[in-house]
Amino acid sequence: MEHHNIVSSIMIGKNNNMIKFRVRQMTINDVNTVLEIWAKNNLHEGTQTIQSFMIQDPEGFIVAEQIFDDDDDQDEKPKNDGETMTNNGESGQNSAPVIGMCVGIFVHPTIAFIGLYGVQPELHGRGIGIAMWKRMMDHIGSLNAGLYAVPEHLTMYRDRAGFQNPDDRMLIIYESDQDDHLNVDILVNSIPETKIHLITTEWYNKVIDYDAHVHGYIRAKLLPHVFNEEGSAAFVASNMTGEKIFGYGCIRTNNIGKAMIGPLYADNDAIAELLMHYLIFYSNVQTRQMETLLLIIIIAMFRMNE
Ligand SMILES: CC(C)(COP(=O)(O)OP(=O)(O)OC[C@H]1O[C@@H](n2cnc3c(N)ncnc32)[C@H](O)[C@@H]1OP(=O)(O)O)[C@@H](O)C(=O)NCCC(=O)NCCS
Repeated sequence: MEHHNIVSSIMIGKNNNMIKFRVRQMTINDVNTVLEIWAKNNLHEGTQTIQSFMIQDPEGFIVAEQIFDDDDDQDEKPKNDGETMTNNGESGQNSAPVIGMCVGIFVHPTIAFIGLYGVQPELHGRGIGIAMWKRMMDHIGSLNAGLYAVPEHLTMYRDRAGFQNPDDRMLIIYESDQDDHLNVDILVNSIPETKIHLITTEWYNKVIDYDAHVHGYIRAKLLPHVFNEEGSAAFVASNMTGEKIFGYGCIRTNNIGKAMIGPLYADNDAIAELLMHYLIFYSNVQTRQMETLLLIIIIAMFRMNE
């Protein structure tokens, strides 16, 4: 796969120093830095999710990296821990620090989904985001796409990016603070005629079928990676014979060191609670501190493309 490492933009930074950046395709080496930037923007993502989705559509993963003309600029470098690529595309430690990312991937041959749109906080408002966005949109072309909009950017997506069709479903995120203790004892812990199983390979076909009913298309390439992510666990709820599936769910660690549940789909609330109960109590996911309290409502927006 070819990397088109063109300098996208040259911006004037603080103290009138020139800030140059280029936009290129993300690599696995960038993932840690990307997750750090996402966390600095108070947004959360699973630690292995990017790797799973990158297999699906690697060309939709875009980053911006800052480039420096000479050593005098070293003090200006953002402090990233991750390894990045040098200007000539070779791997190097922080030689060209990643300062932002934007992802738009085909989850179906004709439908894309956009996410992970973020820039290092101190570099917001310098044209880095829009440069990555344009490169990502080149990948999506004229096909339809969806995204989740955080409230503060809803009008930007709707009025300026063409995402004019809000979905009737929303993603609601609950986040805990330090003092909050989640009461998991109230979750449903058993349901007659219902069994919970770890999702092992023999369950894949049935779970992929169930997932396809929820999503409207088959995610056979992606889901086995999701079920096998490092530090994650996945359970399926079925009838006693295992013939009929009532739901499935996954738990994983995220970029702020907490546990994150999802995807979780179920026929009803009780099955969803039962799956949550198992995910929290019976999985080996190290960090079980869940997220509650601060309520963020994220609205799914869809693009034009009639
Ligand atoms: C959203 C974000 C990625 C934008 O990146 P940025 O580098 O700060 O934005 P830019 O400097 O490129 O924006 C330049 C202009 O393009 C606009 N713009 C940015 N992205 C755009 C998009 N996708 N579509 C249309 N316009 C856009 C900006 O509003 C700005 O307009 P203005 O000059 O009239 O103010 C960045 O602010 C960020 O990381 N925010 C926190 C994380 C977040 O909320 N992400 C979105 C989750 S849904």
